[in-house]
Amino acid sequence: MPSSFLHPFTRPLRDDFVSITDGKGALVFDDQGKEYIDGMGSLWYANVGYGREEIAEAIAQQAKRLGAYHTFDPFTNPPAEQAAAKIVELSPYDEARVFFGSSGSEAVDTAMKMARISQRQLGHPEKQIIISRERGYHGTNYGGTSVQGIPPNREGFGPLVPGIINVVADDDEAMKKIFAEHGDEIAAVITEPIQGAGGVWPPPPGYLSHLRDLCDTYGAFLIHDEVITGFGRTGKWFGSQFYGVTPDMITFAKGVTSGYVPLSGVIVGPAVLAGLEADEDFTLRTGYTYSGHQLGCVAALKCIEIQEREGLLARATAIGERLSAGLNDLRDEGLLLDVRGEGAVWGITLLDGVDVVAVRDALLEMGVIIRPIPPHMSMCPPLVITDEQIDTMVSALRKVLTAI
Ligand SMILES: Cc1ncc(COP(=O)(O)O)c(C=O)c1O
Repeated sequence: MPSSFLHPFTRPLRDDFVSITDGKGALVFDDQGKEYIDGMGSLWYANVGYGREEIAEAIAQQAKRLGAYHTFDPFTNPPAEQAAAKIVELSPYDEARVFFGSSGSEAVDTAMKMARISQRQLGHPEKQIIISRERGYHGTNYGGTSVQGIPPNREGFGPLVPGIINVVADDDEAMKKIFAEHGDEIAAVITEPIQGAGGVWPPPPGYLSHLRDLCDTYGAFLIHDEVITGFGRTGKWFGSQFYGVTPDMITFAKGVTSGYVPLSGVIVGPAVLAGLEADEDFTLRTGYTYSGHQLGCVAALKCIEIQEREGLLARATAIGERLSAGLNDLRDEGLLLDVRGEGAVWGITLLDGVDVVAVRDALLEMGVIIRPIPPHMSMCPPLVITDEQIDTMVSALRKVLTAI
């Protein structure tokens, strides 16, 4: 009999779960006290690791003073102002502004709405189309569902948002063709710098800068969905900096607070701001009750401080070197078909016919968490994972793949 809790992305009739109760560093523990090396940073987010007293303290102090107060006109609050300023400082922009939400899905839907309304404010109401790429994952609100490049995630939910074109993932020519056909009507392109939940796919060399050029040529905005790649995952603060391509908006969530409190946002660059700020009388009629939530913003400031103090961006690069070396060995031993990634986010493709869920379950038994995305698996460990824990993960994977 399933419990009252209806789980996300899960068969509603599933009734056996691993109940996670504790965490420390890159380890989590279940209600039986069993220890797991978390190769996924929960769901791509626990960048600074678990059990950080100083984050708990910062959140508690703020909660005691004022848990939250909304930021609709005319209100603001110091943590939201400080977090926005700090995030702009880390971003690729000299000048930008930050819009806050609570989830990646909210950030994506907001960026889509901002692209369209900014184009309208700039005198281009005909620019409504939003382009996305196959394999892209952009959350599960209706905007994000509509731009999803993973078909099963779109199916069965009724009519989706109109004006979306989903393009073959890595094909420059296909993208050029869409621009040639619809260029004057395109509001924006949304893409993850590294496609994550679709199986971890870094872009082909030059792909993102070609996309930037196309957007510039046709007056479309480029949105980088950095919900996974933001906040240090690639070894830079943002994947945009890693690839040296500056988009017009960046969505973020997950690593900004390492999940201690949900927080997301959109970094709105100058081209989009020009539309939003063009008319003094214009009101941006979108936002969330919890936009600029004090607890989320306090957690973000503390997480950023920790990442800076502990050099966790450089650690992401080192994790990537060690993890990919181990995974490439497994590929060379004939146990994997493919290994790909950057920094501390990696994907592997298993041999034909191998049941990835069975591999996930066997690894769980051995106290290692990596995520199945059939026929791929993904790894996105906390940036505090130790070398020894990385090696344990790889050797557990070797054992399971050899036995299966
Ligand atoms: C790139 C990307 N965008 C958006 C989302 C949606 O975020 P959330 O689940 O917080 O709504 C995710 C979640 O994995 C993501 O990876």
